[in-house]
Amino acid sequence: MSVLILGIEASCDDTAIALIEEGKILANCVANQAVHEAYGGVVPELASRSHQKNIIPVLEAALKKSNRSLSEISAIAYTQGPGLIGSLLVGCSFAKGLSLALDKPLIGVNHMQAHILAHFIDDPKPSFPFLCLTVSGGHTQLVLVHDYLKMEVIGSTIDDAAGEAFDKSAKILGLPYPGGPLIDKHAKKGLVKFNFSKPKVGPLEFSYSGLKTSILYTIRDKVKEEENFIQDNLEDLCASIQFSIVDILIDKLKIAIKKTGVNQVAIAGGVSANSHLRERFAELGENLNIDTFIPAFEYCTDNAAMIAITAHYKFLKNDFIDLAEVPSARLKF
Ligand code: KG4
Ligand code: ZN
Repeated sequence: MSVLILGIEASCDDTAIALIEEGKILANCVANQAVHEAYGGVVPELASRSHQKNIIPVLEAALKKSNRSLSEISAIAYTQGPGLIGSLLVGCSFAKGLSLALDKPLIGVNHMQAHILAHFIDDPKPSFPFLCLTVSGGHTQLVLVHDYLKMEVIGSTIDDAAGEAFDKSAKILGLPYPGGPLIDKHAKKGLVKFNFSKPKVGPLEFSYSGLKTSILYTIRDKVKEEENFIQDNLEDLCASIQFSIVDILIDKLKIAIKKTGVNQVAIAGGVSANSHLRERFAELGENLNIDTFIPAFEYCTDNAAMIAITAHYKFLKNDFIDLAEVPSARLKF
């Protein structure tokens, strides 16, 4: 019988469900939550409530798309963390309910590991060991990937994540949440005209809080002189902010490649959808003569396909968890 996994992702503000059969995606459905746009960030309580509302319709859509029924499923997988505890609890409780009702095993998945294993959904796939820069709304990590489920974090941020830097900068510019994709869009028409400070931290450490302050003060001073400064310079501001955020990522990646000596390097997570990062990363690969792996857009930002593919490898190792397990907001590898 083939291995058919139902993957549930509800760690932040997207309710997503995927079905994967023998490692092949049959359905990958998601309901995004527009409710947070007006607040400049995700409101945890609103996120949990939206998950509760969306989760059954998303499951129905995924079953319909895959043309499979619940009785055919081999195991139920869900995001165990890290993430917002209220959101995680909705996904976890739903998964446990299904596991009990269907008498199928339960698989707990680490969200950050899943972002990386999204590279094993489609070809080309990296070979082990490889280095992955995982950049999302909550994390910025350099991970040495020894095997599907054996990963080592060799560097991370000491304050804000790269996605957070995009979102907070967008908020300063008066753009709605999530600001990353909007900065990317406006930056396409702008030029890098403004310089912001670079962090002075350890070789494999990231820091974005100083950059955010530098952006805030630069804009505040300019607005004092020119009331419409932001509107008149939006595209150049976006290009400059995006350049500064990505430049830090590329600098650190270069150091990590040199230190580890690997010749297979990947990027993952929501910020890996950024067009400037994708360009600079591809360029870096050419310059250093290493293989680079960039995920398809649908597997960069939060999705359940990545949860399901991770669960597929866990299923092959009989790595199941007990109904008594609870999600963890700060789950580590
Ligand atoms: O991985 P993800 O969907 O969720 C978390 O696990 O956090 O990442 C979301 C982050 C947000 O900060 C969002 O602004 C950023 O990814 N993001 C982007 C782009 N698309 C999403 N940042 C820059 N450029 C993009 N095109
Ligand atoms: Zn994520």
